[in-house]
Amino acid sequence: MSNNARDLLADLDLALSLANLADEISLQRYQALDLVVETKPDATPVTDADKAVEMAIRSQLAKARPLDLIVGEEFGTPDSLAGKFYWVIDPIDGTKNYLRGVPTWATLIGLVDPKGEVVVGVVSAPALNRRWWAATGMGAKTQFGSSIKSIHVSKVSKLGDCSLSHSDLIGWGGLKEKFIAVQDKIWRTRGHGDFWSHMLVAEGAVDIAVEPSLSLWDMAALDVIVREAGGSFTNITGESGPHGGSAISSNKILHKEFLEVLK
Ligand code: IPD
Ligand code: CA
Ligand code: CA
Repeated sequence: MSNNARDLLADLDLALSLANLADEISLQRYQALDLVVETKPDATPVTDADKAVEMAIRSQLAKARPLDLIVGEEFGTPDSLAGKFYWVIDPIDGTKNYLRGVPTWATLIGLVDPKGEVVVGVVSAPALNRRWWAATGMGAKTQFGSSIKSIHVSKVSKLGDCSLSHSDLIGWGGLKEKFIAVQDKIWRTRGHGDFWSHMLVAEGAVDIAVEPSLSLWDMAALDVIVREAGGSFTNITGESGPHGGSAISSNKILHKEFLEVLK
């Protein structure tokens, strides 16, 4: 099915209703004294809330979009995604925050078309009382409490004036020294972390966000929101989209120069 034959507004509405469901489950378990935390084979933590949120979303999608495929962090990726629309779910982005009681965590829901382009994205951060969303051609919006507004990236045009957000110094490999050196060239650096860095770019509060090592579910929803807000989303070698294993989102103006500095 081409994007023209697909009702993206209906898909966005569905994604927003899935985010409501996710918020209900994740908020109920947030700061619970009996939260179950396990360690995954990749040595990262997972809680009962991560699993319950992804299961609930999968079960709703199976009913609402039986022909679509689902990629989820906790319950896997189909052997082949060829020729299909597929939903990409990170049930809780920022699990380490979630399990320690830091409110910066979110459910990320993306819809990818058969060409690999993300066409719908929702990021819901209920402990922050914030949500962001976008669909191709429809712009990007945010909600804070009951107030909804359109968002746009910043107009900062000099690297020296730029505010950059990242997560931490893990996963940079051979680029670590270069990334540390970049910080002398720009105005300000903060480790806001996770989805939050990229949503701050989308709403123009930060100019560049960067993470050196990510999976598709960490990025799919973010990609379309940043692009619909007027920004750029690539990996750290400049490949567009969320399929390249790392992320740079920016206000577009600074993107090329930042890629050069990281080279
Ligand atoms: C993590 C976040 C974080 C990134 C880690 C991811 P999770 O996701 O996206 O920003 O630095 O590599 O694992 O595990 O909290 O969903
Ligand atoms: Ca994640
Ligand atoms: Ca996660």
